Amino acid sequence: MPCAKLIGKRPVTMSTTLAPSPATPQAVRPARARATFLMCPPTLYEVDYVINPWMAGNVHASSRERAAAQWTALHTELSRLADVLLIDPEPGSPDMVFTANAGLEFNGSVAVSSFFHPERQAEEDHFRRWFEQHGYPILDLPRSSPFEGEGDALFSTGISRLWIGEGPRTVASSHRILASAWPIGTVALRLVDPRFYHLDTCFAPLSDGSAMYFPAAFDAPSLARIEAFYPPAQRILVEESDALRFACNAVNVGSTIILNTISPKLSSQLEARGFTVAQVDLSEFLKAGGAAKCLVMTLRH
Ligand code: ARG
Repeated sequence: MPCAKLIGKRPVTMSTTLAPSPATPQAVRPARARATFLMCPPTLYEVDYVINPWMAGNVHASSRERAAAQWTALHTELSRLADVLLIDPEPGSPDMVFTANAGLEFNGSVAVSSFFHPERQAEEDHFRRWFEQHGYPILDLPRSSPFEGEGDALFSTGISRLWIGEGPRTVASSHRILASAWPIGTVALRLVDPRFYHLDTCFAPLSDGSAMYFPAAFDAPSLARIEAFYPPAQRILVEESDALRFACNAVNVGSTIILNTISPKLSSQLEARGFTVAQVDLSEFLKAGGAAKCLVMTLRH
């Protein structure tokens, strides 16, 4: 039964099956030949409110100039390896720079986020408009099912399963909506440390079939699920000091991993596995609780 939800001032229909908007193609889009990401320039970036522990004490404490330079460094690094599409920032949405939270793309459709905090809910319309303009059929989640996109939903390499964070921002009912709309296997990972409030802050599936993660961010059953999927040799356990530098908030393109500055120990560990490690200082974004992965959304189609 379709139902209506109100986003901004516009009623939006929601159904638990894929609901392509009439103006957009219904066919599954072909996979892109080159890795492609969506980013949002930080022109209007600001720590304006507190909706996670990182923001506390940092309201209006970030420098837009430094943020712009850091974002440009990330954009430059990423553009060497991938196509980067841009969405314009909108006034009143200072966190829009964190496009990982725009939604989740699967087979050319996008599940647009249903933000938990009212502070970010205006972003939903901005991102939906961009996806519609770019021909993506949309899946809307109801307000009663908070879901914060790729920030809380990461495919294992090979897309065999979707790991979904269950915690402060994304609830189990949204997992069920995604699993009934799309032919995907979802596995919930329960987040228990408020500092790691999105899955992508503490977990990163990597292209060599391994995963880098901070174990203490998860409850015991979730850790068991990770361990059942990744054999010991494929587990990269991140220590708290690196986890707090958002080491797990990494963008992996082929054999390159782009992330905030990390310890020489973790960097050598990744290099020993054959990865090229590109470290970009993203300290201005840590003040809002985000780093490299939060600043990009993957568009596979
Ligand atoms: N200030 C933002 C928030 O709390 C940061 C979002 C970080 N994004 C992410 N994918 N972890 O919502």
